[in-house]
Amino acid sequence: MKVGVVGLGAMGAGIAQLCVESGVDTVGREVTAELGERARERIGHFLTRKVEKGQIESFDLSLLTTTTELADLADCDVVIEAIVEELEPKRELFSELERICRPDAVLATNTSALSVTEIAAATQSPQRVVGMHFFNPAPLMPLVEVVRAELTSDDAFEQAYRLAETMGKHPIRCHDTPGFVVNRILLPLLNDCVRVLDEARVSVDDLDAGMKHGAGWPMGPCELIDLVGIDVHVHASEALYDKLREPRMAPPPRLVAMANAGLLGRKSGRGFYTY
Ligand code: 3HC
Repeated sequence: MKVGVVGLGAMGAGIAQLCVESGVDTVGREVTAELGERARERIGHFLTRKVEKGQIESFDLSLLTTTTELADLADCDVVIEAIVEELEPKRELFSELERICRPDAVLATNTSALSVTEIAAATQSPQRVVGMHFFNPAPLMPLVEVVRAELTSDDAFEQAYRLAETMGKHPIRCHDTPGFVVNRILLPLLNDCVRVLDEARVSVDDLDAGMKHGAGWPMGPCELIDLVGIDVHVHASEALYDKLREPRMAPPPRLVAMANAGLLGRKSGRGFYTY
């Protein structure tokens, strides 16, 4: 089994880490060698911490090769795409992957809120395109939504499902509807939380404490939006709102303003909190 991961940002690096942890041969593609090296260091860091904490005995980082050439994914059994969350770049990538990869390779997208069917439609072989939606942080969150697009074959779907199991995840099966299962529910809920900040004149700390201690959330909504990335959350909310037009799905202006100001959460050092 050989897995390709295209895009080694936070999600792609997490996915590549899971492959390495599962003993799977992995090729990670980034646009520059430096970005590939940075991802490799990040993966090495988190796996070393797991060894130090006794969670795993050892790991073999040589299972991961990084490249800037898509052509190096030619012999992969499954390719998982985790590039920028925009439809056109994803469609272009899938049409290129179709040319490069073996005809029986499964092509999976980690999109959060775009249509897997629209991505698949950029290829001549949409039967092998499937969604594999991981949650942030991918190495820690057990869920993978395995998403069946309109023309996904049973074979491709089951291969993606089995790969998620091999990676130690808890996969669930669903169809390609806006936001799939979790984001369909979670995005409007998080947007409600942000609106309540202003409506109830509650502080960020108190809102987070409220949801942690009153609703059993592992982290508060503001902490979570900071973790996901304010820009990513706004973008996903807009995509969901575009498709379903429910007012709760539209990103609250406060979040849009934060994104425009470069307050992107943990990754930029400042969001609701300062890091
Ligand atoms: N990658 C790999 N390993 C990581 C990591 C990452 N990004 N972040 C942390 N770790 C490792 C670290 O090594 C850390 O150990 P160390 O500090 O001793 O080195 C270890 O994981 C544990 O980290 P924490 O102590 O922070 O773990 P917690 O027990 O506090 O749990 C959590 C962290 C799992 C993130 C928990 O707070 C949680 O479940 N939060 C909710 C997250 C959530 O809801 N995510 C979904 C977001 S929605 C989404 O992703 C959809 C998308 O489409 C937008």
